[in-house]
Amino acid sequence: MCGIVGYVGNKNAQDFLISGLKRLEYRGYDSAGIVTLNGKGRATLLKVKGKISGLETKVAKNKTTDKIGIGHTRWATHGEPSELNAHPHKSGKIYLVHNGIIENYKELKAKLKSSHKFVSETDTEVLVALVNHFYSDGKYPLSNAVVQALKLVHGTYGIAVVSELNPNEIVVARSGSPLVIGIGNNETLIASDASALVGHTKKAIYLNDGEVATVTADSIEIKTLNSQPVSAKVEAIQTDLSAIQKGGYDHFLLKEIMEQPSSLTETLRGRINREEHLVHLGGPKLSDEELKSIKHLIIVGCGTAYHAGVLASYYIEQFTPDISIEPVMASEYRYRHAHVPENSVALIVSQSGETADTLACLRDLKAQGVKTIGIINAIGSTIAREVDGGTYIHAGPEISVASTKAFTSQAVAMIMFGLTVAEAKGVKNSLLAPYIDEIANLPKAIEKLLKNAPESVKNLAKRYKKYDHAIFLGRDVAYPIALEGALKLKEISYIDANAYPAGELKHGPLALVDDRFFEFVFLPENNLYDKTVSGIQEVLARGGHVIVITDADDFSLPVESVVKITTKMKIFTPILMNLVAQLFAYYITVAKNYNVDQPRNLAKSVTVE
Ligand code: G6P
Repeated sequence: MCGIVGYVGNKNAQDFLISGLKRLEYRGYDSAGIVTLNGKGRATLLKVKGKISGLETKVAKNKTTDKIGIGHTRWATHGEPSELNAHPHKSGKIYLVHNGIIENYKELKAKLKSSHKFVSETDTEVLVALVNHFYSDGKYPLSNAVVQALKLVHGTYGIAVVSELNPNEIVVARSGSPLVIGIGNNETLIASDASALVGHTKKAIYLNDGEVATVTADSIEIKTLNSQPVSAKVEAIQTDLSAIQKGGYDHFLLKEIMEQPSSLTETLRGRINREEHLVHLGGPKLSDEELKSIKHLIIVGCGTAYHAGVLASYYIEQFTPDISIEPVMASEYRYRHAHVPENSVALIVSQSGETADTLACLRDLKAQGVKTIGIINAIGSTIAREVDGGTYIHAGPEISVASTKAFTSQAVAMIMFGLTVAEAKGVKNSLLAPYIDEIANLPKAIEKLLKNAPESVKNLAKRYKKYDHAIFLGRDVAYPIALEGALKLKEISYIDANAYPAGELKHGPLALVDDRFFEFVFLPENNLYDKTVSGIQEVLARGGHVIVITDADDFSLPVESVVKITTKMKIFTPILMNLVAQLFAYYITVAKNYNVDQPRNLAKSVTVE
């Protein structure tokens, strides 16, 4: 949600700021801006409404040789996307970029009105005015002014601040919104996400909440808000350049869908013993005794991560009979008065590891003494650092806003966790072995599907792009896939898509069936096959436009379209079916000529509530 970059060194600052913002654009893309300083009291502030490409054009016409600057790509919270509301914001000689939300901005604004003429609707402008108030035109060090200001602020922030009067330093701070400092050769780079630093340096310091750093080209000084010095840990950035490039694909989304055989292989690496049918996860750091004592599993996530949790819960309860499992949406759960039973463990699921609601639940659950286990993709992210233990899914960077490969890896990682619990509880190996076998074979099955499916799904998508509404249906393990399929379609193609358990049709959604609607049904050949078929018949009897995704050889109802999946999988066919839904959403969006990777109004990582 929004992206921050900063540069101080001996190279051209505008070049790094633009290239860094392009890398972070998936985090917010409704407006952008940069400011650079020439060291002699002149600042070049450039802003645009819209994408970084617009900013790039503006920069090309206003090229400087400045060696210090900060930049921002925005996902609007306070005030519409516009040049005025775009960051950096200015007060006196100070420029500031900000991710997060200042909750008490109204009362602060009222106090600052006499000394600062507000021009934007943002909460950020209040923060820069406040810093300027304490800076007193350079009377005090910039970092002191920033600390004084932050002490008065309620909310979340990652910020970078520069002053025309101190053109050699950037002050950065974080509370609830990530900030990384990259250490280069006579240069220091700032980013809200390490991907902007890839290719520039491999050495990084991840700032913690409540820390403020003053950086120059060759120094980094970190303190807490209470002026305690912090000795920072320098960590290695593990991502390489190819992982954040499109690699020959037209869109990141297609790349990420097609990557799933290898991304899932990484999730499984070293964790499955095929011969003895055992799963080993070191990261959760739970002893056999602790695993055995688990009675209740809470799975917390948002969006796709939540759907992965729902899917995992259906599977885990099949083979771990003596625990109850509750997948919850973090944005709801954090305000519920949920009773957390004894012997609960919480799985905290997040691709980015930064989602504000998920993080809030993690902190609440920890405060209640619940053991928290992260199921995270982004290494070193806030959630990954705060959980008691965790399993990285190692799916590699996911850039497209719609999450695809992370879903598959999250679901499988959670199912593997469930298997370790079952093993510890003494569930018979013969019951678990088929699950473990199929998980081990899943990357190959996915590879096979991705060889054959894209062409036919592309044709299917062309046929259905004219519809405005869709309903996704499935039962049992196919229901979470319906939830996820509908989310994928609506978020990128803007087709109004909802999901229902197929057994609920007659309780309402059947009323919707008409010619503006199509029905996308997941039909795995399992114990509920016949019941789902009955549901399809009810839709057909009312003239529905039905698409069926099935692995059943003898499916023969006269539906409009069928995608047959040929696989030896029995248990995890829904995961394969989900890939069909991912491809379907992708190709419909391409056919409608919409922005696949950056759908309107959304952002990849939601670090505000
Ligand atoms: C946003 C993204 C979704 C993602 C959700 C949770 O809404 O657009 O793709 O599923 O956040 O994100 P997380 O990083 O916590 O998995």
